[in-house]
Amino acid sequence: MKRLLGLLFAVALAIGTPAFAAELAGIWLFPKSDEFPGLRMMRLVRAQGGWSGTVTSDWYGDIPMRALEVDSRLASFLIDNGNPRLPPRRWTAKVERSGLHLIGDIWERHIDVVMRRGSAADAVRLAFSTAPLPAPATLKPDGLALTPPMGWSSWNRFAAAIDDRTVREIADHLVSSGLRDAGYRYVNIDDGWQGARGPDGAIRPNARFPDMKALADYVHARGLKIGIYSSPGPKTCAGFVGSYGHVEQDAKSFAAWGFDYLKYDLCSGEGIFRTAAQVKLAYLQMGQALRATGRPILYSLCQYGRDRVGTWGRDVGGHLWRTTGDIEDHYASMASIGFDRDGDPADAGPGGWNDPDMLEIGNGGMTDDEYRTHISLWAMLAAPLMLGNDVRTMSPITLALLENPRVIAIDQDPLGKQGRRIRKDGDGEIWAKPLADGSVALALFNRGETEHELSFTPEDAGFAGITRLIDVWAGVPDNAARRTWRVPAHGVVLLRLRGA
Ligand code: GLA
Repeated sequence: MKRLLGLLFAVALAIGTPAFAAELAGIWLFPKSDEFPGLRMMRLVRAQGGWSGTVTSDWYGDIPMRALEVDSRLASFLIDNGNPRLPPRRWTAKVERSGLHLIGDIWERHIDVVMRRGSAADAVRLAFSTAPLPAPATLKPDGLALTPPMGWSSWNRFAAAIDDRTVREIADHLVSSGLRDAGYRYVNIDDGWQGARGPDGAIRPNARFPDMKALADYVHARGLKIGIYSSPGPKTCAGFVGSYGHVEQDAKSFAAWGFDYLKYDLCSGEGIFRTAAQVKLAYLQMGQALRATGRPILYSLCQYGRDRVGTWGRDVGGHLWRTTGDIEDHYASMASIGFDRDGDPADAGPGGWNDPDMLEIGNGGMTDDEYRTHISLWAMLAAPLMLGNDVRTMSPITLALLENPRVIAIDQDPLGKQGRRIRKDGDGEIWAKPLADGSVALALFNRGETEHELSFTPEDAGFAGITRLIDVWAGVPDNAARRTWRVPAHGVVLLRLRGA
């Protein structure tokens, strides 16, 4: 008897409080919900080494529990906040009479649910099936995007409320406004077009896009090209179906429909591809799949400028890569991106461009001077110029800002050099961009709240003296000896200089 008691005591010591903790082990089912992050089930396992567990979700697949502690009927653990870069959040799960009571947070979602016990069959049914990544490889340049891509994108103005009819009308207005002939060629559908996958796994558009091939034909018939959007993760940022597990199949669908451009947005992939190397392979996978279609398709990488994407964007087949999170339609956002989060000029050039995000000009959140700064700065940066406004209803001032041929020529200059800040003096900044014909674009930016007088020297442009000076926005030659301009608050003076 004494020996038996001793044995029981030893077992209890070895496994903690067996009667209670054992209740936690197993499969637990979340109540059915489509809400972010699509929680499916939780698995708590007790093995020799201790406890481990995962939370399975539509967005991020199997999220590992970290720092898991089990005490009696309570499990407490850390869950990545959607993204292994951010501080994790603590979740708790407690056995109660009604089931397992789970409390936790992920992004802006608070979870407080009671889970019921699942079976082995549930675990199979709800399993997240992981898809393999390719072996590392380097894609060769394909000769596309020799100058920064130009076009229009639906996101900034329409978000996910975009449809076939609007896209067609935008295409018509790009033509009738003259913007197509000014260079804006791509009509890009951003997030929000996706429906469900068919039984064959092929992605289908939603009801707002009855026929993608017909839409592409319509846009092509107007001398324009057309773009589409997806994610390497299972869900896009707006919660639509992503390409995870269907990368090759989706690339084939996009090519078969006649698309010429793909924006590939990390979104839920940031919770699945947990290292920089995995993110790169996920982008390579789509790069290879697009090449395999045989159709020339511009490939826009959108992973918010992480992991020095400019140094490897071309290798995965990218023609442009975002350098930042999302732009917003106000001066502080535009300026902080354009002046300070615009990517390394060494990475940009014919075939591959730093992308400080799409334009907000015409959306109403900035003054005319601020929008003039926006497009002037993007041109100085050799940035992709993707209109983000409703070109069906723009004002003459907006159109004039967007279609100025001398500004566009600076952006599209075949030398493909990204401009740099030469000097910063208080609110004043002088930026220079060398151009193919030997001239230099020089921008005098005033980041201050009041008008300032700004001056430059020929040396700012790399010249000993100036022989010809054009005020780009005014469109007229000015006195080559002039060095000082009054620049409005948040405004710019853009010059094109020839020198000796
Ligand atoms: C992310 C991107 C945006 C846009 C949205 C769509 O936020 O950075 O440019 O594509 O997703 O959901």
